[in-house]
Amino acid sequence: MYVEGLESEFQIGCSENKRTYSYEHVRRGLIRVGYLCGCMGELPTTWEEWIANFEGWQDRVGFNRDWLGDFDLSILFDWDRAGDVIEYGDYEGRAKWERALQVPQQSMRDALITMITVQGDTEFASVEQQRHLLASAPTDYDRYAAARIMAEEQRHGWQMAYLLMTYFGQQGRREAQKLLERNAQDGDRLLGAFNRPMPHWLDFFCYTMFVDRDGKFQLGMLSTSAFKPLAASMGPMLKEESFHLGTGSNGLRRIIKAGVIPLDMLQRYMNKWVATAHDLFGVDGSTSANWAYVWGIKGRWDERKKIEKGIELNKETLNEEARGHYHDEIADAVMKLCGYLPEGAAPLYVPHENFNRDIGAFSKGRYTVEGTEFQGDDAQWDAYLAEHLPTAEDEEALKELFKQEWIAEKPMSQKQIASGIGATA
Ligand SMILES: [Fe+2]
Ligand SMILES: [Fe+2]
Repeated sequence: MYVEGLESEFQIGCSENKRTYSYEHVRRGLIRVGYLCGCMGELPTTWEEWIANFEGWQDRVGFNRDWLGDFDLSILFDWDRAGDVIEYGDYEGRAKWERALQVPQQSMRDALITMITVQGDTEFASVEQQRHLLASAPTDYDRYAAARIMAEEQRHGWQMAYLLMTYFGQQGRREAQKLLERNAQDGDRLLGAFNRPMPHWLDFFCYTMFVDRDGKFQLGMLSTSAFKPLAASMGPMLKEESFHLGTGSNGLRRIIKAGVIPLDMLQRYMNKWVATAHDLFGVDGSTSANWAYVWGIKGRWDERKKIEKGIELNKETLNEEARGHYHDEIADAVMKLCGYLPEGAAPLYVPHENFNRDIGAFSKGRYTVEGTEFQGDDAQWDAYLAEHLPTAEDEEALKELFKQEWIAEKPMSQKQIASGIGATA
């Protein structure tokens, strides 16, 4: 999972020395990611050393290596799909950069490091958020699916750490190490959504449906990057990501089919994670998104198609544009889910982009799920939220509902059984 969010504040450092920064600090050269925490122990100097530290991370978060089954944690590139020539921005038409030293300016290298770091941070964070769920999987298939997702997120984290370790010298090694030191349970992962607890499986299915799908968009936008190793990393990651989204939509479909979870409750959990996913696209009018585009580091969603069709570029509203595409896609996916509802049931919906936002222009006011400004006093607003977001009563009721057959069975394929992924979890 991933992210823009570079303009929101983030903390860098370790437990003894933690400071709050924003991407603006990085962009203006006031700080340089990687030089912030002087008290960190030995940095890994080789990839093998980093892997040894990664195993320490697995032990700390309680992810048993047996759960990986036959899954191969490895570094994968699709160089063909990455392209040879810079596709947009000020350096359009020149050869893509294959080494960090070819990147024209230090500020651009810093932006790349920040972007790769934030991406990698979300990958490890999601494992920290989800790992405890394996013990309470509703079916064998779901245990397999969740363990596979966590295996793939670890591979994505590897991939980002590998880029940092291989291409960005001391600064990169420091960031690669810090990917293993922040923790979602301590709330010090870089982006808010990845510090949010995911107490149960209803959250998990909404998360994979909506937050992993944000990931797909972020990866897609990096897949045309001028930094070739980053672009080449995205193809294999996107392929894996599609299983995560599929797990979300399939899970929600099976929940509807089982008919145990009340639909209004399901809607509240969907609303919670949709709003979080909307936030992940970052602030409106983002200057960091603008710079990333100008520098050729991160493109628009479907950049190649847009160039081909000559679709006009608005650099001022890149985050809004990406969020709009995402919103349309989830609206479509939820419409498909409605096809499985029992006759006469109120349709499920996707809340408006203004609803329950934590960052951006709409985070300050009160907006309804339709996107209009809420009319009413504080008490009425609280009542409105209780109708549209999960409540303490919902959490209580779920404990009982989870004892029933609340999700339809899904048989495992022979190949999935043979993989051994999650089998011992
Ligand atoms: Fe991922
Ligand atoms: Fe994912």
